[in-house]
Amino acid sequence: MPVMVLQGKKGLVLNVTNKNSIGWAVAEAAVAQGALVGVGAQTERFAEKVGEMAGEHPNMSVLTVDFSEEAQLEALAETVKERYGKIDFLVHSAAFAKREDLSGRFIDTSRDGFATALDISAYSLVACCKALEDCFNEDASVVTMSYLGSTRAVGNYNVMGVAKAALEAAVRYLAIDLGPKGIRVNTVSPGPINTVAARGVKGLTEMIHYVHDRAPLKREFGQTEVAGTTVYLLSDLSRGVSGQIIFVDNGYNTVGM
Ligand SMILES: NC(=O)c1ccc[n+]([C@@H]2O[C@H](COP(=O)([O-])OP(=O)(O)OC[C@H]3O[C@@H](n4cnc5c(N)ncnc54)[C@H](O)[C@@H]3O)[C@@H](O)[C@H]2O)c1
Repeated sequence: MPVMVLQGKKGLVLNVTNKNSIGWAVAEAAVAQGALVGVGAQTERFAEKVGEMAGEHPNMSVLTVDFSEEAQLEALAETVKERYGKIDFLVHSAAFAKREDLSGRFIDTSRDGFATALDISAYSLVACCKALEDCFNEDASVVTMSYLGSTRAVGNYNVMGVAKAALEAAVRYLAIDLGPKGIRVNTVSPGPINTVAARGVKGLTEMIHYVHDRAPLKREFGQTEVAGTTVYLLSDLSRGVSGQIIFVDNGYNTVGM
């Protein structure tokens, strides 16, 4: 009988919009590996749909959290305490930038657009970790989702690249802060995948083809591959890993010419 690597663990995946969400693939993979999972929805309206999806799995339930509201993060911690007591993992899988800031010239990003992208896509990880700090078990694991646009200038990704750079730096600092408690913090960096958030970036289809054409591995990659690596990072198999960025992009990031 194969061992389930998340057997007995409880955790959150924040957030999910639909079945294409990377977070949904992670939540399903975590449940399949024995975990009890709370999946987040940003609004009550999303929660109806996500609740229906979660209802298909006995070990999954839905909770609502919008990262732009401090009070909702406090409420999240209360819900976690009531529902789970302590948790073993948090998957932060959320980002937002204004649509007009995901095309054209980066130089045209407004002050407000810059602040919004950084707030929801990077600061939210810090805020979640702070709100949930007392809920984490010793040996808990935190994983967030970044993208190569953090270190390379990728056309149209623009302000989201700056937000992902901040997110990756935040992961390293959070790893230092939470490390003494045995808590690990890591980043998964997927290649482009067709989701609602990704479709906000102009030229997504071209990006997907470009990466698939040039990556060392020629087979398709997507949510399933990202979920597999995330489950590894949530499991005790990665006990010695913290502050890292693991790419799930068929090796694209390593290729020069
Ligand atoms: N799809 C890709 O190509 C790709 C590649 C690399 C990284 N990522 C990252 O993966 C993560 C998940 O994105 P996805 O592609 O699954 O898209 P998605 O649209 O399915 O998920 C994005 C989630 O962010 C949530 N969100 C946005 N604003 C929020 C707010 N104010 N409060 C709380 N939640 C909020 C949305 O509700 C949604 O559930 C994001 O961080 C994204 O940047 C995606």
